[in-house]
Amino acid sequence: MLTPLKAALAETLPPTALYWLRSVKRAIMLQPPIPWPFAWPGDLTRTQSVAAEVEDDGRPIQDTAIERYKMRNLPSPDSFYGYQDILPLAAKEIAKALTLSVQYVNGSHVYGDIAEFGTMGGFSAKAIATSMVFDPQRQPLSKSASGENPFRILRLFDSFEGLPEITSPVDLGSPHVVSGAWAKGGCKVLAAPELRERIGKILPPHRFQLYEGWFADTVKTLPPETRFAMIHFDGDLYQSTMDALVPLFERGMISTGAMICFDDWNANRAIPTTGERQAWKELVETFNIDASNCGDYSVGGTRFIIHSYRGIPADPE
Ligand SMILES: C[S@@+](CC[C@H](N)C(=O)[O-])C[C@H]1O[C@@H](n2cnc3c(N)ncnc32)[C@H](O)[C@@H]1O
Repeated sequence: MLTPLKAALAETLPPTALYWLRSVKRAIMLQPPIPWPFAWPGDLTRTQSVAAEVEDDGRPIQDTAIERYKMRNLPSPDSFYGYQDILPLAAKEIAKALTLSVQYVNGSHVYGDIAEFGTMGGFSAKAIATSMVFDPQRQPLSKSASGENPFRILRLFDSFEGLPEITSPVDLGSPHVVSGAWAKGGCKVLAAPELRERIGKILPPHRFQLYEGWFADTVKTLPPETRFAMIHFDGDLYQSTMDALVPLFERGMISTGAMICFDDWNANRAIPTTGERQAWKELVETFNIDASNCGDYSVGGTRFIIHSYRGIPADPE
């Protein structure tokens, strides 16, 4: 127990001086030494050093926390993000949501492969592919969909020519099209061989496939036994959403428990009659979809888990 005088004195001393004083006192009283509770410079990150201190000094966390608070040795509540953190923040949040989605379908044994519609610069495809690196345990639930290949396959769809000609009245009336932000040929970044090379550095060739062309055409080439556990839809437009997802629901290719991530849910000022929001409303009505919204992510995205819809196939044994 510290006397008020000792406590007041202790508050005026730097923490290292306090440590040495306590150590000397313990040595005089033939008590075992207390471990050095501070990170040596360059030793540990700030967070690790806090954990190490709490673990090492044997006192309740509350004592350490209050001591550090009084010494103003805690991150300040006004220190949020530096300017260098701002630009990557939204992209990191997208990568995080996609990574967690892959982990969800693995952990929850959702049947089938993973698709991305709209690959552009390959940013999100790389995030998904990297997450798939850690599902190397054989996925028995995807074996029959993948023939002899027991692993989930990443199926990547893009025109590699940018956005299509915009013809649908829903898209023509949406703010991003009116402003010219979304226009024919927009979002053209990587050519197919470049994307293949980038994803090929992450996954072996039998674990991914590129589908080059308009969604409406390429989706038709999927063999009927194809099933999807996860879809990342990033094709921006209402019409592109319908072109990709109508055939998948029609053909019963979306599995029970599948996760569908919409990257541009909040595009167009989040007006409900535009883009992916309008497409989803129509899909839900047409196919009688029962889904749970799992919440928005980053600045524009939202995710759904599909429970059932008209024509949903039974999971293979
Ligand atoms: C916003 S970008 C995708 C960004 C990408 N996910 C990334 O991380 O870099 C939209 C992409 O969707 C593609 N796209 C949109 N509608 C399409 C359609 N109907 N058929 C094929 N590709 C389409 C465009 O070519 C473009 O590459």
